[in-house]
Amino acid sequence: MRADLDRRHEPRRIILLGPPGAGKGTQADVIASRLDVSHISTGEIFRANVDAATILGLQAQSYMDSGAMVPDELTTKMVSRRLNEDDVVDGFLLDGFPRNLNQAEFLDEASRTTGNTVDLVLELHMPAEEVVQRLNGRLVCGHCGRSWHAQLNTTRVDGICDTCAGPLHQRDDDREDSIRRRLELYEQQTTPLLTYYREQGKLVPVDALGPIGTVNDRLLAALDAHAKTDTTARR
Ligand code: AP5
Repeated sequence: MRADLDRRHEPRRIILLGPPGAGKGTQADVIASRLDVSHISTGEIFRANVDAATILGLQAQSYMDSGAMVPDELTTKMVSRRLNEDDVVDGFLLDGFPRNLNQAEFLDEASRTTGNTVDLVLELHMPAEEVVQRLNGRLVCGHCGRSWHAQLNTTRVDGICDTCAGPLHQRDDDREDSIRRRLELYEQQTTPLLTYYREQGKLVPVDALGPIGTVNDRLLAALDAHAKTDTTARR
């Protein structure tokens, strides 16, 4: 953060959009800790429920395994509960939600009630061919959930997470058929959100190609630019 920027003008309620494999999960923790806001990943919440065999997990699992979207009714109920938890009052970074217009309208309505309106929507932009390569090699830690990659983002010891020494595995939905389905759904259902948020003046596209650190620098620059614009507008 540059010295002339007032941290009070940094965005506090952010959506991270992008196709599967664009790096949302990889980048989200860095942004959330820089802004000191909670990272809310609907995919991670669903996966935790599947692992714990909760009713929600049992309802969600077959949709997730095939690369389909979990029905809006289940998803919005779960997000609504999460958005009402204490740690979210001061801000949030949403990763994987909203994923269609119905969910975006639900979020707008919920924000009107709580006053927690979304400040900024960061779109990680990436072509489909790259998605398949990234997801084919993805390895996820069974303990802390951190994502690694067999070629592009390797750990020091094969099969062991650098962060917590947990065992790495492939996600059940990182099969070719499920990846294709998720990409199709992204094109059909999620890309209309780009227009939706562009028209609200909230969308900032960020190139998701290149090394993780480079993409991270671009995202942090987008946050700085937003804070600067907001500071200038208030003068
Ligand atoms: P979710 O977990 O949200 O999956 P997704 O959107 O398909 O996104 P991914 O987690 O696959 O990708 P990512 O962008 O986080 O990439 P990552 O950082 O891991 O959702 C899973 C399922 O849950 C959905 O299919 C659906 O069924 C359900 N669901 C979730 N939300 C829902 C909703 N709102 N409504 C209905 N259903 C919902 O990176 C990928 C790989 O690339 C990693 O290996 C990483 O190490 C590597 N990598 C990242 N960045 C770079 C880089 N710059 N260079 C090289 N490698 C990189």
